[in-house]
Amino acid sequence: MNDLNALPSDFIWGAATAAYQIEGAVAEDGRSPSIWDTFSRTPGKVANGDTGDVACDHYHRWPEDIGLMKRLGLDAYRFSIAWPRIVPGGDGPVNEAGLAFYDRLVDGLLDAGITPFATLYHWDLPQALQDRGGWTSRETSEHFAAYASAVTERLGDRVKDWATLNEPLCSAWIGHLEGAMAPGLTDLDAAVRASYHLHLGHGLAVQAVRAASPDARIGIVNNLSPIEAASEREEDIAAAVRADGHTNRWWLDPIHGRGYPEDMLDLYGAELPERPGDLDTIATPLDWIGLNYYFRQIVEADPAGRAPYARQIDPAGARHTAMGWEVHADGLEQLLMRLTDEYGARRIHVTENGSAYPDAVRADGTVDDPERVRYLEEHLAACGRAVAKGAPLAGYFAWSLMDNFEWAYGYDKRFGLVHVDYATQKRTVKGSGHRYADIIRAAREGRAGRLRIRDTWSSRG
Ligand code: FCB
Repeated sequence: MNDLNALPSDFIWGAATAAYQIEGAVAEDGRSPSIWDTFSRTPGKVANGDTGDVACDHYHRWPEDIGLMKRLGLDAYRFSIAWPRIVPGGDGPVNEAGLAFYDRLVDGLLDAGITPFATLYHWDLPQALQDRGGWTSRETSEHFAAYASAVTERLGDRVKDWATLNEPLCSAWIGHLEGAMAPGLTDLDAAVRASYHLHLGHGLAVQAVRAASPDARIGIVNNLSPIEAASEREEDIAAAVRADGHTNRWWLDPIHGRGYPEDMLDLYGAELPERPGDLDTIATPLDWIGLNYYFRQIVEADPAGRAPYARQIDPAGARHTAMGWEVHADGLEQLLMRLTDEYGARRIHVTENGSAYPDAVRADGTVDDPERVRYLEEHLAACGRAVAKGAPLAGYFAWSLMDNFEWAYGYDKRFGLVHVDYATQKRTVKGSGHRYADIIRAAREGRAGRLRIRDTWSSRG
């Protein structure tokens, strides 16, 4: 018996990518620059000066990449649509050639028996809109809905599963407060405004997608972390409450109709650019909620830092990925239960989960990545435990289908189930990709429970 037994028989097995991380072809067929083109060209912002100019050249190699998905046996593929390909000016004319690319991709997926899950915004805001204030400006929310509508009108007859935003936390907090992602600002007021307009854009886009495609199933993708206080000290416990507000409640409460957390509004000392009716728009009911899970946070008070004045500490004996992120699969189970019990989730997808390790192709042409296999199995087991306790988990999307442009870390960090040699664009299925394919096949045949899943991995050998 293993925990995978608990996963429903119609469980959706997927993998995820994002446009800027894989497509390349940044100046082709009318695509305009996005804030990530600008950011990656700004000296010092991305490791090695890497850019998404070529990335995995998926824009040209998508048929081969669909072949890889088939080899893995995926039910579904989560990808993102590049706004600057569809509406290069940010608002205004729609670019037919941009739509046509995703049209071909979607047809290719459906021909391969793979369900497309499309994300409308995975961080690549048209630079033209950034020049007019980006997400700090209310206009951007409205333009986002218009873009969402254009995409759904074209693809909505075939794409039924949509996500509005990927990880608005990263866009707002990392992009506008920490400055480590595009557009690279370090301004708390701007970050709070951006978070609000991201949410408003999300709500407006949900309505736009539904108007164009009434049978669409639509959700939002949040990255969340369970938070623990580093000690029993009062200041550390208070820091944990703040970190939870910053990382989790700020992103969950408004979309669940609870408004923005009062304690965080006080902490940020920020005025929301709110107009009557906005909070209802933001809370437009969703069909599902997406969870991206990478790590938990153990925090202590950091009064000299920036909001939320909480510093992460590393627990003794922790295992880490190449990102320096602690491996802690129980955190995934905890978050799935929190979404279920505290937020009444009715349908959840794990829209991303995965690990970076410094993989290399061996002389015999294979890629052996036992740590990623272990990570995958531990996190799938956590999903199984959550389902056994009642979490309405419907699918799991491994991050990532293939190695790609890992934002500010450039090409150094490899998250793929498939290895990419960037010099030749050769793809090689890693050991973890083969393992995922085995798990999927076994689950489909109803024998997942008989798989030897090393979900405790207490004694490696
Ligand atoms: C998430 C992003 C995704 C990828 C993973 C590692 O925050 O959504 O694009 O970079 O992290």
